[in-house]
Amino acid sequence: MQYDFDRLIDRRSTNSLKWRRYDPDVLPLWVADMDFAAPPPVLEALRQAVDHGVFGYAVPTRELAETVAARLQRLYGWQATPEMVVATPGVVSAFAAAARAVCQPGQGILVQPPVYPPFLSVHAAAGLVRQDAPLARVAHSQYVAYEIDWDVFEAAFRSGGASTSMFLLCNPHNPTGQTYSRADLSRMADLCLRYGAVICSDEIHAELLLGGATHTPIAALDPAVAARTITLIAPSKTFNVAGLFCGFAIIPDEDLRLRYRKTLEAMTLHVNSLGLAAAQAAFSGACDDWLAALNRYLTANRDFLADFVARRLPGVRTSLPAATYLAWLDCTDLLRAGRIQGSPHQFFVQKARVALNDGAEFGPGGEGFVRLNFGCPRATLAEALERMARALEVET
Ligand SMILES: Cc1ncc(COP(=O)(O)O)c(C=O)c1O
Repeated sequence: MQYDFDRLIDRRSTNSLKWRRYDPDVLPLWVADMDFAAPPPVLEALRQAVDHGVFGYAVPTRELAETVAARLQRLYGWQATPEMVVATPGVVSAFAAAARAVCQPGQGILVQPPVYPPFLSVHAAAGLVRQDAPLARVAHSQYVAYEIDWDVFEAAFRSGGASTSMFLLCNPHNPTGQTYSRADLSRMADLCLRYGAVICSDEIHAELLLGGATHTPIAALDPAVAARTITLIAPSKTFNVAGLFCGFAIIPDEDLRLRYRKTLEAMTLHVNSLGLAAAQAAFSGACDDWLAALNRYLTANRDFLADFVARRLPGVRTSLPAATYLAWLDCTDLLRAGRIQGSPHQFFVQKARVALNDGAEFGPGGEGFVRLNFGCPRATLAEALERMARALEVET
């Protein structure tokens, strides 16, 4: 079947956060949702739910837990079972609950900046110490990549005078878009086991894979790792249903799962009935054809962007994401050369009328960067990049 990802859908007339935050002449390529309609089976499931007409409290059904577990088995050969699946109202609330379920006040939570901003504040509400293990930036001539500095990673386990009780992993990683190799995942997992830390792995971007990239859930490495891991997944990014707030925690260890369920109850976190209906359709397999087409479209958008940046945005380097629809643009050379002043985010909003995410919000190592969301029709991406190129030509 053909899917039309080029179609421009007006979102300004809706309550979209992405399209309402800035002035109407600003093109928004910031917050992580896509400008595409959700896949037809998801829309049909939602239509049926709406046509039913009653929107009472809902429970996650056994069928849904079976669907989620079967998907994990099919995609990764991971022996997940329906019993391990706990429904959550999205992923940010799910890792906030994990921090409370796992950690005692005063203990440490390890994160790898630059990283998705809510990772940087989860410690505060739970009375924890944030332990940063920054990723190491590797600048190539036209692009930027990241790797784990293993000395930095291991040193973070004892930093700030706290013992690490949880490692909050972003796999694949936002904003760098990198997927991790089995070797890197094993090494991270080994260190967590050695230091007694539970792994909470945010795998929300796992199915947005570009150019044939693959994803490995850290819990699928081996049962000893699985027993110490809370894996968080959701249909929200992949199938563009983020506003329906529904996700899943996969927790193989029974005691940890019980503690986690109790924490969700204590935090009064319940799941939206339309989110559950959408998740059932999204993860059923009926949308896989749409997803394959989406990933091809996103791969072409990534390549278009990388080519444009190399040719038309001198002084800017981009990541080449293997996953996600997010590009991480390194503008530090522009700043160093004095071609732009202040934050690149402000420069592009003010001079190009393009809204990106401010890299500074992604923590140490994010200053001088912007994050660009290319989950949009090619025409929107091309227009935004043209505006950015013109602004740099005129202003610098
Ligand atoms: C890594 C990561 N985790 C979680 C979320 C958001 O999850 P939710 O909206 O389900 O809370 C995002 C959204 O951009 C994300 O990139």
